[in-house]
Amino acid sequence: MGLPPSIQATMNPDKGVISREIFVDPGVYQDELKKLFTRAWLFVGHESLIPKPGDFYASRMGEESVILCRDKKGEIHVFLNSCRHRGMKVCRYDQGNTSLFTCPYHSWSYTTDGKLQGVPLYRTLYEGQLERGDWSLIEVAKMVNYKGAIWATWDPQAPDFLTYLGGAKLHLDQVLDCRDGREGGSEVIGVQKWVLPANWKLAAENFLGDTYHNPSHRSVDLIGIGPSAVAGKKGRRDDEMENAKHVWVSFPAGHGVHSAIQPENNEYIESYKNDPIIEEYFRHCHNERKRRLGDQARVTGFTATYFPNTSSHARQPRGLCAWHPHSPTSTEAWRFFLVDKDAPENVKDMLRRYYMRYSGPAGMTEQDDMENWLYATNASVGTIARRYPFNYQQSLHAHSSNEFVPGTVSTQITEENARGFYRAWGAYMNDGSWSECLGEDNLKHPHATAAE
Ligand code: FES
Ligand SMILES: [Fe+2]
Repeated sequence: MGLPPSIQATMNPDKGVISREIFVDPGVYQDELKKLFTRAWLFVGHESLIPKPGDFYASRMGEESVILCRDKKGEIHVFLNSCRHRGMKVCRYDQGNTSLFTCPYHSWSYTTDGKLQGVPLYRTLYEGQLERGDWSLIEVAKMVNYKGAIWATWDPQAPDFLTYLGGAKLHLDQVLDCRDGREGGSEVIGVQKWVLPANWKLAAENFLGDTYHNPSHRSVDLIGIGPSAVAGKKGRRDDEMENAKHVWVSFPAGHGVHSAIQPENNEYIESYKNDPIIEEYFRHCHNERKRRLGDQARVTGFTATYFPNTSSHARQPRGLCAWHPHSPTSTEAWRFFLVDKDAPENVKDMLRRYYMRYSGPAGMTEQDDMENWLYATNASVGTIARRYPFNYQQSLHAHSSNEFVPGTVSTQITEENARGFYRAWGAYMNDGSWSECLGEDNLKHPHATAAE
């Protein structure tokens, strides 16, 4: 069963027409939970949240609670947070350390590698009936630790994570690699969680590269909240993008990126003149990255969404955000802020303050965005409003390719990334095969066979 005919009739990503129903209809939402969130690779958390054996961090996949956990031997697992006896949550804390997850209801207990260990009155009530080995916590089908970020899927048939990511790997690397170009090495310095009354796709779509919405941030741009917080310096960010050429990149698997390519000389742009130590740190990172990556260092990440519900900022600010669905019109946002683990403390502190000024429920930029998403959701639930589709015709067919970045590239502001997102979304909702959901290009991408 695919989408209902009434929705199919007003859904045509190739022509830039998207049904409003998909943002408000409870039936579509239930189908998303069943067909999309049970198959796609989802971002669950970061290894720095569970550094020691026994550490756990309660997370979500779709609507469901999961436990991200490091077992006694140091292996990372992702379990459904639901007891095998009557389904009680076995972990009711946000995070912590334990040797056992003991269910509060009838006290079955599970080891940190998910095995059922303790069953009260086992000998009297269960001996000969209950085979403990058959009743472990339910574990995801596949899990990967990619440069510290943990991703998982419930689908045993899902392709490996790098195949799923395809050419978008280049952009995720910019979020997870060190500022000086070394691989990996990031840590989470804080997580903000909040609920917003909007459909999850509006948020995911915004980060695909909706640069057209810049007027929404006019007030923030006027006052200036950039990382260096220099008096009189207007804007949301510092100047590193000043001379760059912006690109918008779409991938057949539904990922979309707004990135930028620096000019050939890729010179460092001074931003922290008021603080010589921070200035020196960022200058050093810039030059080291250039030395390590050569011409590829010219690619400067910006925003992205990795299909379906993980978005990122790659530079300033820097982090990953999961848009967890609660209902058609409610989303729980989890924003994980990242820094280089070995950055000096004063740099981490400066970034932490900047991230809070910019993002999250109290962040000035994110408040602008959220206001748009929640009013757009609310104004689309009405009987009349639902009859009329949204327009996604911006820069239709205006794309090409680029030597630095794989994917469908546009050098002008475009809604192609959103059209690509909804093409992929449609493939899942129509129970498409994995090659239909990813697009053939992704399956042939050179990253496809790389080790995870
Ligand atoms: S529901 Fe967990 S022990 Fe009964
Ligand atoms: Fe925005």
